[in-house]
Amino acid sequence: MLGRVIGVYDSGFGGLTVLRALRARLPEHDFVYLGDSGRAPYGGRDADTILDFSEQCVERLFEEGCALVVVACHTVSCVALRHLQQRYAPEKDSPRRILGVTIPAAEEAVSKSAGHIAVLGTARTIASRTFDAEIAKLGPHRVTSRAAPLLAPIVEEGWEDSEVARLAIAKYVEGLETADTLLLACTHYPLLERTFCEVVPAHVRVLDPGPAVAIALEGWLARHPGYVARGRGALRVLCTGEPETFRQHGERMLGAPLPAVQHVALIDGRLAHRERVEIPTGQVVRPSTPPPR
Ligand code: DGL
Repeated sequence: MLGRVIGVYDSGFGGLTVLRALRARLPEHDFVYLGDSGRAPYGGRDADTILDFSEQCVERLFEEGCALVVVACHTVSCVALRHLQQRYAPEKDSPRRILGVTIPAAEEAVSKSAGHIAVLGTARTIASRTFDAEIAKLGPHRVTSRAAPLLAPIVEEGWEDSEVARLAIAKYVEGLETADTLLLACTHYPLLERTFCEVVPAHVRVLDPGPAVAIALEGWLARHPGYVARGRGALRVLCTGEPETFRQHGERMLGAPLPAVQHVALIDGRLAHRERVEIPTGQVVRPSTPPPR
């Protein structure tokens, strides 16, 4: 059966930079975006937690009517994509499919690089060594990977064009002068693209993989016409965190106004819609917490 919408999943707001590229390339498709902002960032979390969170999020997107889910988060793509595919889409013709960002990003870097690719991402993305493995399948390129955990919070603060951003980038790219291509393997970093270009030597190509992910998705849809019906460019947005905060940050990442953000919360082990989000002040005491024995 044809799905009505394409699901896009990220740990939080950052994946909206990927969605921006997807919508620019595929304006006739409808999307539903789920940002797990209440539990972000994922980048320093252990693999088991990322597997648990990602199962809950893709299940929510399937329940939203998605036959196809794009994992926009590099951390999840690097750590959990194979697990998700084996669990939910084990056969080539499984009714539901899950795609990631790692392979299109690696292919784009290899196609652009003359021989030495630098990869910047979260601590978990880099620790997974998934980019090293995927690039090695494509060519004999040298890969230097480096975790850059300060950069996502800098983007969330809106400090992309600040001295703090320039100093952090300069520190992270120290010693990478022999690289010719710098792959921005974290959803937040495309917002820092201009600052990266100011800081890195002129011969280094700074690569936002978003457009390559969009081209890969377009190709996949053409090869799999039974999965997603064309729509009218509609967008729905869900998040696990505070919806209004999500909308404010999200609009910068998407580069466009966001519709009203719906809240989903973990209820009995599943992410379900919840109407009201209250942010408590002061002490919080659970009503029926029995004293420990
Ligand atoms: N979305 C994550 C990624 O692309 C970055 C933010 C996080 O650490 O959750 O790896």
